[in-house]
Parts: sequence; structure tokens; C-alpha cells
Amino acid sequence: MPLHHHEPGDATLDVNPLYATGAARAGVPKLRIPREPMDAEVAYQIVHDELMLDGNARLNLATFVTTWMEPQAARLMAEAADKNVIDKDEYPQTAEIERRCVHILADLWHAQPHQTAVGCSTTGSSEAAMLAGMALKWRWREARRAAGASTDRPNMVMGINVQVCWEKFCRYWDVEPRCVPMEGQRRHLTGEEAVKLCDENTIGVVAVLGSTQDGSYEPVAEIAAALDRLHQAGGPDVPLHVDAASGGFVAPFVQPDLEWDFRIPRVASINTSGHKYGLVYPGVGWVIWRDRDALPEQLVFRVNYLGGSMPTFALNFSRPGAQVIAQYYNLIRLGFEGYRRIQQAALDTAQQLAAAIARIGPFQLLTAGSELPVFAFTLRPEVTRYSVFDISDGLRKRGWQVPAYSFPPNLEDTSVLRVVVRNGMSRDLADVLVADLRREVAQLEKLSSPLPQHPDRARFHH
Ligand SMILES: Cc1ncc(COP(=O)(O)O)c(C=O)c1O
Repeated sequence: MPLHHHEPGDATLDVNPLYATGAARAGVPKLRIPREPMDAEVAYQIVHDELMLDGNARLNLATFVTTWMEPQAARLMAEAADKNVIDKDEYPQTAEIERRCVHILADLWHAQPHQTAVGCSTTGSSEAAMLAGMALKWRWREARRAAGASTDRPNMVMGINVQVCWEKFCRYWDVEPRCVPMEGQRRHLTGEEAVKLCDENTIGVVAVLGSTQDGSYEPVAEIAAALDRLHQAGGPDVPLHVDAASGGFVAPFVQPDLEWDFRIPRVASINTSGHKYGLVYPGVGWVIWRDRDALPEQLVFRVNYLGGSMPTFALNFSRPGAQVIAQYYNLIRLGFEGYRRIQQAALDTAQQLAAAIARIGPFQLLTAGSELPVFAFTLRPEVTRYSVFDISDGLRKRGWQVPAYSFPPNLEDTSVLRVVVRNGMSRDLADVLVADLRREVAQLEKLSSPLPQHPDRARFHH
């Protein structure tokens, strides 16, 4: 969350004279609590009107997070708005629904029947990453202590393209991040590069199923095989975590033969965001460990549950239950075939949109929406009068939010635009985007000299 610094002052919200009754008549202070209550309808209208200034979620091609659910799901969420997911004793059916979701995901990710997968819901993939990272750190530390070895310098190996949550994990839990930079055509982690950075202090390697930067899948099986070889050759036995924030709800349905999950023995744990391709509104993620050995017992806390106790692992205590309930709704409402159709439609739209953008002329595709329904594209080197940042700004005029950003080291000189196709991005909407892009390019092509570029435009933290 942004850190907000306290500002003194008496700024007030302007209230339409029609609503300016009672406490609202004198204006509503922005940064202090109003002294008196106001009419509920007036308060509603003030907040509602202010929210109109937010972007249109359907035109937001930057986010991976769900922007549309069926009215029945929205109804269930409103009905469940008062449920606190930690109160297992008070809401045993919500707890049961969460348990079923964990089982369904473990099954989709090929948890082996003879092993006992264990998992939980989280606020999103970031909390899931913290939990998975802690489990790796605790396991590594136990093994090192048992061997009488030092536990001072844990490190984690990953590609530089990982989402910021892994950088956070490393900083908050005092783990050295060892990031493989991008190079040439390689924009994510490979097995060969991963093992080069591993040593006896490596708590784990993170492979991303669906890079936030360009939507490509990291080669999980190849990374696992490289780690197997490292161990067989007498090197450390390094567990693999798969950050399947997006891919965890895509690959099982539309790339069922791709081996990236618990079919690979080295995969210790997997996270996903229920609120991305799990198709739930923001606020739910999942993390599953292969078996109890992968999740150290010291990390587990117990809460009351029907006169007994239930094991939990979370950073938060209280958390809304509605998203977990909405996840279960989606799972039973859509079933395997429903999810498959939705993800396949997103892939088809992404691929057609990518191809249409490539035909406009100045753009070059870096990915084409063949893994996640996400693709990144850049401008051809001969385009020098405008940048991807100008294109992104131009699209904003029509309401589209298409992020532009520079790649991390060593490809800082490559700046891209990225489109995330989600449920609700219809072919018609995609055609409108292509028409708007054509219009924008036609305008920019008329420039007689280059537009000024600001260095601070290049940053991006999604
Ligand atoms: C690969 C990856 N991991 C983790 C995250 C963080 O996910 P969340 O927003 O659910 O916390 C994202 C978000 O885009 C992501 O793409």
C-alpha cells in the first residue's frame, strides 16, 4: 500500500447543494473525521461520486486481477461480507469451503494421492509468496542446524523478472535475493542460469509460471532437471517453488500436458492468485505444499474449531471470507470445462489481438499470448520520434490503460507495452483497441521531430 504522510490542513469535500443537508452543509472535511454523523444516502452519494473518477475496469489492460464476476457471485459475496475467514468455529461452513478449494487445487496441480498436500487461502499471491518463502527458509535452517552448519546467509535464486513480492520476501525475511539478469532473447529464468547461482545457502529457487513482464512461462521442468543434476553431482538439494500467480489457473485447463506442477518431484510448493485467472474479485490467493515435510510444523498456529483446533498458517489474522466463497462458487459453477472455455477464449483473443497489433506496422511482438493470454510488444528500432510511453499516454485519451515500462537489467534499453487479456475482453473490444492504436500511430507518425522523453517514465512495479 502507498505510505500516506500526514498533512495538516482544513481541506473539505465539495458537496452538491442538493445533498448539502445536516453535517454535509458545512462541507465534509477530507483529512479529519467529521464532527457529526450525516445521512447514509448523502454519505453514499459523496463516496459513490468520488469513485467515478477511477478508471474503467473493463478498459484496464494493465491488471491481471478480475474485473468482472457474475451477478450471482457478487450476490454471494455481499451475503458473505460479514464473514471473517479466521473464525473457523463461528463459520464452520466457510472453513469447509476453503478446505474443499484447497483439495480441488491440489488435485488440479497433480498432488500425488500417496502424499498429503497441505495448503490454505491467502490474501493474494504476495501473502502466499511470503508463506512459501518462510517454509523454504525454515526447512533450510533446520537442515543446516542439524548438520551443524552456519545459518547466517540464506539466499534465494530467481529471475530478475519476478514480481516485486519476491524482492519483498527477501528484504523482510533477511534473505539475499540472487537474481538472474535478462540477456539478449532470454527474458526469464532457465535451468542453466539458476544452478550457477545456487550454493549450500540457497533456501530455494522460484520459477514463475507466467512472467509478469511478458506473460511467458519459465521452463519449470527444465529448471527442476538442472537442480536434480546439481544434487546428483554432489551439490546442494535445492527445493523449487512455482509462482503460478497467473498460470496456476490457466495451464491446468488449456495446457494440460505441460508438466510444471507436483508431477515434478522437486516442486515443493505452488502459489496462485484466485483473483487473477481464478476469476474472483480482489482478495484471494492460494498456496499448497507438496506434503507435510515441505511445511515446517513450527510455522503452524492453531485456532478453535468445533471444540477442537484447526491448524492455520497466515500473516493476517482477520480476513474477509467472501472471496474464498466466491472462489468455490466459480469452481462449482464453471467446472473444468467452464474454466477451459474461458481461458481458451482469452488465449484466442490475446493471440488475435497480438497478430493484429503486429500488422499495424511499427510494433514488434516479444510474446504473442501463447502461454498466458498476455503479450508484450515494443517499437521497431527505426521508430525514433515517439516511444511506447507516448503510445500508452495516447491510449489513455480513449480510456485504455496499457502499461509501458522498461525491462529490468540487463535489458533496460528495451521498453515495452503489455496487454493482459482477461475474461470480459471480447473480440469486439479488442477490435476497438486495434482501431484506437492505429489512430494513435497515425497521429504520432505525423511528428516532424522527436517527442521529449522523461527518464522517470520507465519504472513499473506490477
Ligand atoms: C508472477 C506474479 N507473482 C506474484 C504476484 C503478486 O500477486 P498478488 O497481486 O495476488 O499479490 C503477481 C501479480 O501480478 C504476479 O504476476
